[in-house]
Amino acid sequence: MARKKITVVGAGHVGATTAMWLARKELGDVVLIDIVEGIPQGKALDMMEAAPIEGFDVSITGTNDYADTAGSDVVIITAGLPRKPGMDRSDLIKTNAGIIKAVTGEIVKYSPDTTLIIVTNPLDVMVYAAWKLSGLPSHRVMGLSGALDAGRMDAFIAMELGVSVKDVRCMVIGAHANDMVPLRRHSTVSGIAITKLLDDETITAIENRTRVAGGEIVGLLKTGSAYYAPSRAVASMAEAVLLDQKRVIPSAVYCDGEYGIKGIFAGLPAKLGAGGVEDILEIELDDDEQAQLDESVNAIKELIKHLDI
Ligand code: NAI
Ligand code: 2OP
Repeated sequence: MARKKITVVGAGHVGATTAMWLARKELGDVVLIDIVEGIPQGKALDMMEAAPIEGFDVSITGTNDYADTAGSDVVIITAGLPRKPGMDRSDLIKTNAGIIKAVTGEIVKYSPDTTLIIVTNPLDVMVYAAWKLSGLPSHRVMGLSGALDAGRMDAFIAMELGVSVKDVRCMVIGAHANDMVPLRRHSTVSGIAITKLLDDETITAIENRTRVAGGEIVGLLKTGSAYYAPSRAVASMAEAVLLDQKRVIPSAVYCDGEYGIKGIFAGLPAKLGAGGVEDILEIELDDDEQAQLDESVNAIKELIKHLDI
């Protein structure tokens, strides 16, 4: 079987770290592309020199030429500007939509059958823009949101309980923004609902920390945003598609009436496999959860109004 090919657009913090995770997992040959000359080439060569030491055996190419991305099975787009302290995700909308437009045109020209995974913020708007601009079917386009946000909540629950992170599985839906919707009733430790293990006040504090977890890292770094957890999260999504794993990973997916959402992308539990987004799992929400999701979705719709594509 021919090796898979994965392109990562944007060789910055998230892009380069994603390329490293993909290569270490030997998920396929990796092409790292950026607008800046030398950066993708230098980082790719550095990773190739790590390969014999760590023992992974795939090719990693750095380039500025989209012809080198031809025939990619999965393309991850991280190109864009990250938030600076005090900056909201929506502040990025104009600049990053322009970048998404430039990138998706080139990508589909060379990889018309690819699966696109968007990382660029503001996520739920950029994934919508990428879908519109790429002309790809909606099940072939998805965005990184819940995989990261739920991972963060998993980490906080494990820290609070002093249990292994391996046993914690939280569910976070809605937008990749401060109004995301952590679902405590559907978050478990080895199958035990967290509501049986922690009091309301503690869970509320953890949910609130999860909502602003991206900002917490920005506040500490001061010169950019998180990239270790984001890159690992998006690598999981790519892995699920490349290996046809049918994993259920909360992701920004196109909604066609699910949870009462239609015509936009929002974070929902999705089955990811070779077909891209193969299914959206619909679970019953109580009135409060549904109201929070509606509010989060309305905010996405408002942001989409600022898109000029
Ligand atoms: P970064 O600044 O380190 O890297 C961005 C890279 O994009 C730079 O190397 C830049 O040269 C490149 N770039 C800019 N315009 C380009 C173009 N037209 N074509 C190709 N490359 C281009 O930023 P970082 O930290 O890697 O973040 C990237 C994006 O991902 C940001 O928008 C950030 O907000 C977002 N993000 C989203 C997350 C999510 O959960 N959805 C999580 C973490 C970051
Ligand atoms: C994060 O949540 C910046 O969206 C990015 O860390």
